[in-house]
Amino acid sequence: MLTIAISKGRIYEEALPLLAAADIIPIDDPKKCRKLILDTNHPDVKLVIIRATDVPTFVEYGAADMGIAGKDVLIEHGAQSLYEPLDLGISTCRLMTAAHKDAPPLGRRIRVATKYVKTAQHYFSSQGIQAEIIKLYGSMELAPLVGLADCIVDLVDTGNTLKANGLEPKDLIMTISSRLIVNKASMKMKHQQIQTVIEQIASALPSTTP
Ligand code: ATP
Ligand code: PRP
Repeated sequence: MLTIAISKGRIYEEALPLLAAADIIPIDDPKKCRKLILDTNHPDVKLVIIRATDVPTFVEYGAADMGIAGKDVLIEHGAQSLYEPLDLGISTCRLMTAAHKDAPPLGRRIRVATKYVKTAQHYFSSQGIQAEIIKLYGSMELAPLVGLADCIVDLVDTGNTLKANGLEPKDLIMTISSRLIVNKASMKMKHQQIQTVIEQIASALPSTTP
């Protein structure tokens, strides 16, 4: 049995063609059914549908052999005990600081709202800024508008969400894409099967060499 952990939504949609390249085709559609374990065209390959932030946890503990997770989630999770064999180049975006468009430059002591608590703390420390981090689970953009925080740390793609709320992107913390991750024990125990999946997905990725 090979179990792959993935979140529904944008990562699932963008990962489907890559999984298909490894001849893994889900039979159920997570948008249409409430099943959390999806059958595929292979009786011994299953997809488990979980929250994006839970993917590294499932893979780290071996509840899933492999998974697909954003680099933002992996860094925040601190997943050192996982293999990360492939950058899939999907669900790309930027982790940025953002503030009200008319906000004065940030001082040396600030309040920051984010769901990326560890990453934000590490970033502001590296900038010599003393940041009080306020953990939120969503709608970060609201925080500067209601005086909860001076700025936010959040993902930016088109910038539309920031713009719609009168905020603007400030500093780039890191560029983000989704990665294939593998449980270390599974890599040993199911080496042949996992290596084949990695190679087939890799062959479907755009070449980075000129
Ligand atoms: P959770 O369900 O755990 O709260 P989430 O709601 O943020 O997570 P998604 O919105 O599906 O889950 O995001 C999953 C991943 O997709 C993120 O971790 C990030 O790597 C990437 N991502 C998030 N927002 C965007 C975006 N606007 N554009 C491109 N990629 C994004
Ligand atoms: C993400 C992120 C931003 C938005 C950025 O939210 O948290 O709010 O995308 O994308 P943009 O720059 O193209 O507007 P998402 O759409 O995943 O909603 P959620 O965090 O509420 O799940």
